[in-house]
Amino acid sequence: MGFLRNQQLLSKMATGNGHGENSPFEGWKAYDSNPYHAIKNPDGVIQMGLAENQLSFDLVEDWIKENPESSICTLKGVSQFKDIALFQDYHGLSAFRNAVANFMGKVRGGKVKFNPDRIVMSGGATGAHETMAFCLANPGDAFLVPTPYYAGFDRDLRWRTGVQLIPVVCESSNGFKVTRDALEIAYKKAQEDNIKVKGVLITNPSNPLGTILDRETLKSIVSFINEQNIHLICDEIYAATVFSQPDFISISEILEEGITCNLDLIHVVYSLSKDLGFPGFRVGVIYSYNDDVVNCAREMSSLGLVSTQTQHLLSAMLSDEQFVDKLISESAERLASRHKMFTIELGKVGISCLKSNAGLFCWMDLRALLEKKTVEGEMALWRTIIEKVKLNVSPGSSFHCSEPGWFRVCFANMDDETMKVALDRIIDFVFKPNKKEIMAPKKVQQKWQANLHLRLSLCGRRHEEVTKTPCTMSPHSPLVRAT
Ligand SMILES: Cc1ncc(COP(=O)(O)O)c(C=O)c1O
Repeated sequence: MGFLRNQQLLSKMATGNGHGENSPFEGWKAYDSNPYHAIKNPDGVIQMGLAENQLSFDLVEDWIKENPESSICTLKGVSQFKDIALFQDYHGLSAFRNAVANFMGKVRGGKVKFNPDRIVMSGGATGAHETMAFCLANPGDAFLVPTPYYAGFDRDLRWRTGVQLIPVVCESSNGFKVTRDALEIAYKKAQEDNIKVKGVLITNPSNPLGTILDRETLKSIVSFINEQNIHLICDEIYAATVFSQPDFISISEILEEGITCNLDLIHVVYSLSKDLGFPGFRVGVIYSYNDDVVNCAREMSSLGLVSTQTQHLLSAMLSDEQFVDKLISESAERLASRHKMFTIELGKVGISCLKSNAGLFCWMDLRALLEKKTVEGEMALWRTIIEKVKLNVSPGSSFHCSEPGWFRVCFANMDDETMKVALDRIIDFVFKPNKKEIMAPKKVQQKWQANLHLRLSLCGRRHEEVTKTPCTMSPHSPLVRAT
């Protein structure tokens, strides 16, 4: 983080900036040095830059208490300790692969079946993406990625593989839809630049948009990659975060419906980091329809296996169908009500979000508040939000969004009370000193704009100083650590 590595002692890769994490992500620093705590630090910064699913942990904790034998470090489970500690086959425990395959089918509404023999383990979706890039592309080759996209892809797919990512520019005018035209423009540009395109990488449901891809869009993407004979990687790690209609449609569902396509080109990346809220367990999955990719990825997986202790615990948990059904439906309900509370309250002060029905975040539209409709203008507003409103949110530019003024705000990594404080701070900021004032949305927006412009101009000097320093944050940085 921000330090210069010794270029003589270390490799080019180690000293290069391929990981994208050398910039001083100020939002995280602001949070780390002054984290909010209801009692100990009520004026601290609230973390809204972290896509964590913490709303249903009570259910998981109850299950753990009721099933002590599933943890091998308990009196009830210790008899299994030796076997589990010794197991090291990189195929993984078969009970684990069966349970994960079953779970993947369940979170896709039981509409598709996954073959446990195609499940390859990896260290989170992070490891899965890198393995996919190694399997499918040579250094210099590229994947097309619709924008805005998860900033970690720049590290995961590119850093150690030498692969490039080419943005497919999507716009707010049609809700950031991934259109055939946008894909073709990006593909053509790559050809003109003599870059070999090996595939398209989509995230469905989307991080940061919280939207899902509709059937027509999925079909058109499949047709596109099939015609070009390139791969399609579908990151579906937010599959179970869909909390309202329409239902999630997995790429696997499209394939099962019988679309004409070379199945060898299709690969799904999954993990339990978001749907179950277990990013610490580092459970990632590659599910490929291509036998060679399955075999190669499995051999590579030796470099990033999931601990057998974790496999053992999760195979027991995920095989408990009744528990899993309850967890999936309860989690969706809690996400829905948190999303509703957040968007309704924002709406009252004239702030809108992109319409969404999935994910752990909202894509908040603050374009009207930018002094300058540029990335710099966005960063100035972002700093004001961190410094004055004391909320760490993530600017759209860190997701390669083509339009300044969008911000991702996470809402599932905190309790109800903290969420209320966060909302109060936004409302306070808009209405100070009389925050109870309720106005028609148009008027509210004007007031919010006027207030904000005043505040921006008051902190203008500070912004100028910051933006002129040599260590100015790259537009990609604040989110690199955020997930
Ligand atoms: C779209 C997407 N893919 C992959 C990841 C990495 O997930 P994991 O924790 O499983 O490595 C994230 C994390 O935020 C993500 O949002």
